[in-house]
Amino acid sequence: MKIIVKNITSLSLIMFGALGDLALRKLYNSLFILYKKNIINKKINILCLARKVETLNTFRYTIYKRLIKANYINNKRDLVKLINFINCLYYLNIDFTTLTHFKFIKNQNLKNNLSKLVYFAVSSNIFKIICKYLNLNKQLTKTAKIILEKPIGCNLKSSININNYINNIYFERSIFRIDHYLGKRQVKNLLSLRFLNPVFYMLWKKKYITHIVINLAEHLGIEDRWGYFDKTGQLRDMVQNHLIQLLSMITICIPKTKQISVKNIYKEKIKILKDLNNSFLTVDIKYGQYISNKFKNKIFNGYLEEKNSNKNSSTETFIYIKTKINNFHWYGIPFFLMSGKRLKQKLSQIKIYLKKNSLNNDLNNKLIINLQPKEDINLNKFKIKQMSLNKNNYLDSYDFLILEVIKGKQDWFVSKEEIDYSWRWIDKVIHIWKQKNIPIFYYKSFTWGPIG
Ligand code: BG6
Repeated sequence: MKIIVKNITSLSLIMFGALGDLALRKLYNSLFILYKKNIINKKINILCLARKVETLNTFRYTIYKRLIKANYINNKRDLVKLINFINCLYYLNIDFTTLTHFKFIKNQNLKNNLSKLVYFAVSSNIFKIICKYLNLNKQLTKTAKIILEKPIGCNLKSSININNYINNIYFERSIFRIDHYLGKRQVKNLLSLRFLNPVFYMLWKKKYITHIVINLAEHLGIEDRWGYFDKTGQLRDMVQNHLIQLLSMITICIPKTKQISVKNIYKEKIKILKDLNNSFLTVDIKYGQYISNKFKNKIFNGYLEEKNSNKNSSTETFIYIKTKINNFHWYGIPFFLMSGKRLKQKLSQIKIYLKKNSLNNDLNNKLIINLQPKEDINLNKFKIKQMSLNKNNYLDSYDFLILEVIKGKQDWFVSKEEIDYSWRWIDKVIHIWKQKNIPIFYYKSFTWGPIG
């Protein structure tokens, strides 16, 4: 899907968690990409909120340095753009759990005529309090758009509780539950690959498939976010959202009407998530935690030696689940889902293993869809040319999704119901995992982990 934005959009954005890992690693980059491509312009006004006491200049300099490091600047014009962008950033240190601090937001010069967007780039356990205080201070009209980061809640119960609370304050159409994997180019292409390409449409059947592997491997460790991650773990951080989204995209049926509309796709996703929940008994789990290792002549800490760590933690930095979807279409096909931090390399990949036939006895017939760092599709050894992957014309991940929010389009966001069903499944996985008393596997950093 090619994005051509003719109308330059302006916006006023309030970002909670402005110095958090997500904001620093992804959000400023994406906002700058939109700015650099003239998709948002000078009228942008970004109020960045965090607890740390910092002057506006120091804050702006921090972001400036990060964006320079991220290699967006190729010439003098880009540099001027960057400086202009940085000047659109404002900083305010407040405590998000103190009502009186919210009045400072009001005092900031937020240009009222601009479309308002609030980004909750913080842990979901403070979503309710932020909503409440924004509301009590009458800071936002009900039409402001709210972006909620995943994971929402830490189980089904807490997630329903948070969603219900926010729904009492804001219209559902103004709430955007983001999963940045849905904004990735290759993920957006998955449905057209499956349903619009006759070859893959024919091939994508249990009759031709032996098993499917989805692997979301990360090279990065926990960095500075031990506090958040230790309460979350890789299952809730990556599987409950990104991995389950990918699983549903590759297993949903084509809608009966053959109309690939957003509404129909949502319906199909719910159906598959229900089937996944009903197939639960076949689940098989392994989990692990990274320990220290040498990489490029430098010793890297293990999970328990990272900054602010608690030495007794058994939180998983790696998770592997073998499961099945026992519906008519996928009966008997195993799905291997895995994701881990500090693995050998960054790799987000879907592998579909195909059955052998009388002419081809190779057990390694497979369709590989690489989402990142490479974006390509290979069928056995043949690379499939993807006409639509011209990087320059495309927005990716957060830049794409933020623009969708600005436009008010919900197509690539996650519905409340999807989140409920995915938590239902995760809760069951956790239940079995605890019941089975599965031992933790300690894996060396920069290896392939417990199943490597
Ligand atoms: C986030 C997780 O959603 O995705 C992070 O919270 C993870 O822990 C990140 O590092 C990975 O995203 P990407 O786009 O780099 O694969």
